[in-house]
Amino acid sequence: MLDYLIEIKNLKEKKDAIILAHNYQIPEVQDIADFVGDSLGLSRIAAKTKAKIIVFCGVHFMAETASILSPEKKILLPDLDAGCSLADSINVKQLIDWKKKNPDAVVVSYVNTTADIKAESDYCCTSSNALQIVQSIDDKKDILFLPDMFLGAYVQKKTNKKIKIWPGECHVHAAMKFEEIKNLKDEYPDSEVLIHPECACGSQAMLMAERNNDKSIHFLSTEAMIGKSQESKSKNVIVATEEGIIHKMKKACPEKNFIPINRTSKCNFMKMITVEKVYNSLKTESPEIKVPIKLALKAKTAIDRMIEIG
Ligand code: 13P
Ligand code: SF4
Repeated sequence: MLDYLIEIKNLKEKKDAIILAHNYQIPEVQDIADFVGDSLGLSRIAAKTKAKIIVFCGVHFMAETASILSPEKKILLPDLDAGCSLADSINVKQLIDWKKKNPDAVVVSYVNTTADIKAESDYCCTSSNALQIVQSIDDKKDILFLPDMFLGAYVQKKTNKKIKIWPGECHVHAAMKFEEIKNLKDEYPDSEVLIHPECACGSQAMLMAERNNDKSIHFLSTEAMIGKSQESKSKNVIVATEEGIIHKMKKACPEKNFIPINRTSKCNFMKMITVEKVYNSLKTESPEIKVPIKLALKAKTAIDRMIEIG
């Protein structure tokens, strides 16, 4: 039987490849990656790595973003079906129609979008810099924030800008309800609560935090959640995002008790990548994600703005 770990290590050296993995990947994939992080961190590595091949263990839009940032590199996505329900909640025709009706508005797109949406956007952002990006836009401008309505509502509340929000959602985070947080917080009153701003529970959790002046509730990107869990003094940490993140949290702080708000909160797309598929992808140098150069150049401006800020 093949020892995938040894074979992958050898292929990586021979082909000058690196493996990038998102924080939601299965533990075995995270453990073979050269870098595990959030969308912003992974994009930054993709932009600056000297490796010839990037094996992207994440979802389709992430590999596309890497291709736009590094068009000279070969970007591999070990399973082409690894999509994203949030990215699928808007198509480019819908955006072009909206822009025709609102020609002066500024379009801010979350990184969880396809390359053609990014090409029609003024700014791209991730969960770790959405606030800073929107904050940097002129107060007088109308802004369209897309496609996540929960992240959009969070940004609207925090910035007080004139924001119109696209009604899209991620099926995993839309299922995360406030009652689950409330019940766990009652059960573990001394806990720190880490919430990804894509969660449906966001508005009510923000209200609860404000009303009770509760400083233990935080809205963070996946990587910032990991950082916060490390610096927190609480033993109990309630985690409102996809459960894959708990692997890295536990590795960094084995003595802490990480409590997912919903134990079945798995992103079926992220879980499509396996060690065997990573091996096959490296061996055959496929499937490759290559954004056509004209589209890539058009989308790059919005992505460069995202990489620069935050
Ligand atoms: P992060 O950028 O916070 O890692 O989030 C990516 C994502 O897909 C969340 O569902
Ligand atoms: Fe997309 Fe949601 Fe999966 Fe993130 S968790 S990749 S937003 S479907």
